[in-house]
Amino acid sequence: MSDVIRFILDGQIQAVHNVDPELTLLNFLRTHWRRTGTKEGCAEGDCGACTIVIGEMRRGAVHYRAINACILFLPMLDGKELMTVESLRGRDGWLHPVQQALVDHHASQCGFCTPGIVMSLYAHYLNRGPVDVATLNDVLAGNLCRCTGYRPIVAAAQVMYDYPSPSGGLGDTETQTLLASIQRTSMLALVHECTRSGVMKKFFAPRTLDELSEAIGAHDDAVILAGGTDVGLWVTKQHRMLKTVISVGDVKDFDLWVDTDSTIEIGAGMRYGQAMARLGSYYPDMGALIRRIGSVQIRNSGTIGGNIANGSPIGDMMPVLIASGAILVLRKRNKTREMPLEDYFISYGKQDRQPGEFVEKIILPKPCAHQVFWAHKISKRFDQDISAVCGAFNFTIEKGHVKAARICYGGMAATPKRARACEDSLMGKLWSYAVVQDAMRALEKDYQPLSDMRASESYRMTVAKNLLYKCFLADTKNEEPLDILELAVESHG
Ligand SMILES: Cc1cc2nc3c(=O)[nH]c(=O)nc-3n(C[C@H](O)[C@H](O)[C@H](O)COP(=O)(O)OP(=O)(O)OC[C@H]3O[C@@H](n4cnc5c(N)ncnc54)[C@H](O)[C@@H]3O)c2cc1C
Ligand code: FES
Ligand code: FES
Repeated sequence: MSDVIRFILDGQIQAVHNVDPELTLLNFLRTHWRRTGTKEGCAEGDCGACTIVIGEMRRGAVHYRAINACILFLPMLDGKELMTVESLRGRDGWLHPVQQALVDHHASQCGFCTPGIVMSLYAHYLNRGPVDVATLNDVLAGNLCRCTGYRPIVAAAQVMYDYPSPSGGLGDTETQTLLASIQRTSMLALVHECTRSGVMKKFFAPRTLDELSEAIGAHDDAVILAGGTDVGLWVTKQHRMLKTVISVGDVKDFDLWVDTDSTIEIGAGMRYGQAMARLGSYYPDMGALIRRIGSVQIRNSGTIGGNIANGSPIGDMMPVLIASGAILVLRKRNKTREMPLEDYFISYGKQDRQPGEFVEKIILPKPCAHQVFWAHKISKRFDQDISAVCGAFNFTIEKGHVKAARICYGGMAATPKRARACEDSLMGKLWSYAVVQDAMRALEKDYQPLSDMRASESYRMTVAKNLLYKCFLADTKNEEPLDILELAVESHG
């Protein structure tokens, strides 16, 4: 066990002792170290003003990702390399190519968003990412700029590789050596007495699955922390005190991906950024849907396990995973149990998870012949927005007839929920305009959606029906009249 957090900053190993485990990296940078280049806009992962870059060793190479410092707890930095906008500072006023390109293209006015934009582009630069407009729009979707506008920012990013490569700083091998020297062999265990309340706060970061299950078994009231894109906001927005936290971020192989002949196994700790292309290669609509979860920074932190475990009725992964027929694997100490993912959600805020149990992995069947898989998310903005409604459809169509149907919606009930009446109305029938019309009506038996700030009840129902119709049209390229497409009056993307 160890109680010191170690990370690399500007080529030096930093050691931080006796830290409040709930201290965010952003607050640490700004108030303890006066590194005020990293800004706070929203403190909830939305605006990107706090973007920093993290480097870490993964399977023999250093991987870089842009993330939001405002919802990252400082202990999550242990064993990693941190780069802030100040890390790019060169000698004699020298600017990094990303910065020089932004200057040359007049891509900053008030400048508040600029450090975050620099860091998002810097991560992309380190990863030698492509610079077509669509990719850059995606890279910048988690960075709000209210006064410059994105045209000059994108134009600058398109030419960032044309500038001379930066000199100085650590080479790849030196970074790897330094990172290797701060990897720990035992669990990080911090205990900190809160000066205001006297409460002893604890933070554990196990290294192996066995250590994790032991730690969760021993502290079954602990908050499990994965990417922190939900849990971070409990602290920054709800001001909750987390007495005991168990972080899964350093657990070896918790982000595993196992391909068998008929299934894909995904570790609960797999981040969206890691899963997007892989899942998309089997289920293209799953990849496209993940691309619309949060922003690059959120997808670089948020995990699939966290999306399942938080139990939200609008978690975007649930409709696609349930429609695909995913099985959830829960673990408590050495015992595991499996269930169809849809059975995990009992009612609003209540899931079938016992104290001491955690989400270990998800098992998905691979797509099979004659399968139609389609999914779509409806939200007010295309990027960086939570669903009003999300629908996923998985049909087996043989000889023009529906042989199997799994339909799941998010945003239509208190939990993610299958549309059983709608599925039943399709089973065994001709995959046709008239049958789909009946199935659309059957959705009224499945759901009584709520009205809230995202959408009204009638909008949700109308959209849910239309999504099914859109799936039918997409599959059949059908030229039938559009008279069954109901009009949704609210404006959504
Ligand atoms: C700006 C922003 C945009 C977002 N956009 C979207 C979006 O478009 N779509 C969407 O669906 N969500 C969105 N989210 C929500 C969030 O990103 C997801 O729910 C994410 O998947 C949570 O994963 P995490 O790893 O960050 O979980 P954490 O925040 O670490 O944890 C979430 C919950 O899961 C529990 N938990 C985590 N891992 C496990 C485990 N292995 N076993 C048991 N319990 C566990 C935690 O205790 C907690 O209750 C957004 C969040 C932010 C801040
Ligand atoms: S301060 Fe807005 S994303 Fe962090
Ligand atoms: S330059 Fe002002 S918000 Fe972007």
